[in-house]
Amino acid sequence: MYIANRFTDYELLCAGGGEKLERWNDIILQRPDPQAIWPKPANSDVWTEPHAIYIRSESGGGHWKKRRPIPSTWRVGYPLSNHPLEFIIEPTGFKHTGLFPEQSVNWDYCADRIRSAVIAGRKPRILNLFAYTGGATLACAAAGAAEVVHVDASKGMITRAKENIHASSLDQAYVRFIAEDCNRFVERELRRNRTYDGIIMDPPAYGRGPSGELWRLEDALYELVEKCVALLSDQALFFILNSYTTGLSSAVMQDILRLTVKPKHGGKVVSADLGIPASKMDIILPCGSVARWSNGESIGKH
Ligand SMILES: C[S@@+](CC[C@H](N)C(=O)[O-])C[C@H]1O[C@@H](n2cnc3c(N)ncnc32)[C@H](O)[C@@H]1O
Repeated sequence: MYIANRFTDYELLCAGGGEKLERWNDIILQRPDPQAIWPKPANSDVWTEPHAIYIRSESGGGHWKKRRPIPSTWRVGYPLSNHPLEFIIEPTGFKHTGLFPEQSVNWDYCADRIRSAVIAGRKPRILNLFAYTGGATLACAAAGAAEVVHVDASKGMITRAKENIHASSLDQAYVRFIAEDCNRFVERELRRNRTYDGIIMDPPAYGRGPSGELWRLEDALYELVEKCVALLSDQALFFILNSYTTGLSSAVMQDILRLTVKPKHGGKVVSADLGIPASKMDIILPCGSVARWSNGESIGKH
């Protein structure tokens, strides 16, 4: 398991009863987590009073019930080596906050590989698909990528990613923001013969295609990965395939990369679940999984 344990501004306090309690800087939020199927700890020293609780609505979605005043947005930092990152946190109607802390293990991994390539005189170009608020984009830019292309269909997410770039003092980095369907963008890049030295992909379980059609990740993933592999340069450094879909094990994603990237580029593929350790109980909460292809050079510590 890849364990996200390098945050100081963020902490998973405890989980149980289908919910988790997390500290986002000095604000404590309680929200649903389907993995936390054991009973909620009864001790009030463990399950402390949150500032806000996400309440699901029976008609879908939900809202945050505030117990104490909280700002509409605030910041959480991440100690990426060589360049600390800053993220704007905002509790949303979909229970998200604008940051997936477990992804920090992938940020460290990308940053290590990019930094080593830059030290070796290379100028890596990175493609971040389903890029959300830009966690991986920031990490790649901070590590010295010559260009990061950030693609997300949501204009609101692109705006937040730009704000996070600014908050992290990365305004000088060369980042291109593209508000578009990932599949359509990838097909366009193939027609232009563009290549990338690293690709990161974190698709949702269900998505909308270019014509608004609904697709299931299980049905669409292999073909999308195949197309992306055709965008990898001959000197590619990594391909990261992340998933929050419980139906897709890390081993399946590892197999997809074995079947698509390895025949063309060699290298090695590994995979694991992602997890966050709780500080007030003895658990590591699983938070999706990742498969990583790398060109085989052993680099960095992550
Ligand atoms: C699970 S989030 C990614 C989380 C991100 N990796 C992180 O660590 O912060 C999925 C993102 O995919 C975007 N998305 C969903 N369907 C899309 C599509 N067809 N094309 C482009 N982006 C899409 C959503 O707007 C959302 O921002």
